[in-house]
Amino acid sequence: MQDYHEFLSEILITEEQLEVRIAELGEQISRDYEGHTVHMVCILRGGVLFLTDLMRKIRIPNTIDFMAVSSYGVGARQSTGQVRITLDLLQDIRDRDVLLVEDIVDSGYTIATVLEFLATRHPRSLKVCTLLDKSERREIEVPIDYCGFKIPDKFVFGYGLDIDEFYRNLPFIGAVDPGRYPPSH
Ligand code: IMP
Ligand code: MG
Repeated sequence: MQDYHEFLSEILITEEQLEVRIAELGEQISRDYEGHTVHMVCILRGGVLFLTDLMRKIRIPNTIDFMAVSSYGVGARQSTGQVRITLDLLQDIRDRDVLLVEDIVDSGYTIATVLEFLATRHPRSLKVCTLLDKSERREIEVPIDYCGFKIPDKFVFGYGLDIDEFYRNLPFIGAVDPGRYPPSH
């Protein structure tokens, strides 16, 4: 694994900025779902760090579940629009207040597919919370109820987001210098 300093162009969002913004989101969600239980559905694997930090800032009863999708394989950096559900939820979501927790909305195909899939199970409500929104690249319109940060059209990594599965553990969101992209494995 290459040292990320070799291709990092800039730190887009620092650890401190993430912490402040996630606390704000937790507060907002706690207020909006007051009197209810929020069932947080995290899309593996990118959303995991965000989920675990966000849930610690939520003051109302909450439960979590996970699902996984695959949109593009290792090495590819563009969504194909072909999104497959590769891991289904363990718990039933009928009549529950579901909050989908995602790392980033890019083309929008992942969220659009997952929303369609979950809606068939008749949750009481279904909302989207994404840490990052790369809206310039949107190809399909998706409703976003909570957004941490809008970011420019740059490939980013860290804090759950990977480059070919690596660098998810970094505590900040970094942007890749397009001229010094790490080679894919
Ligand atoms: P979408 O289906 O195009 O909206 O893509 C969403 C998925 O693509 C995310 O869940 C990420 O896994 C991945 N992705 C999109 N942009 C980036 C990025 O800049 N860095 C890392 N992963 C990304
Ligand atoms: Mg990914």
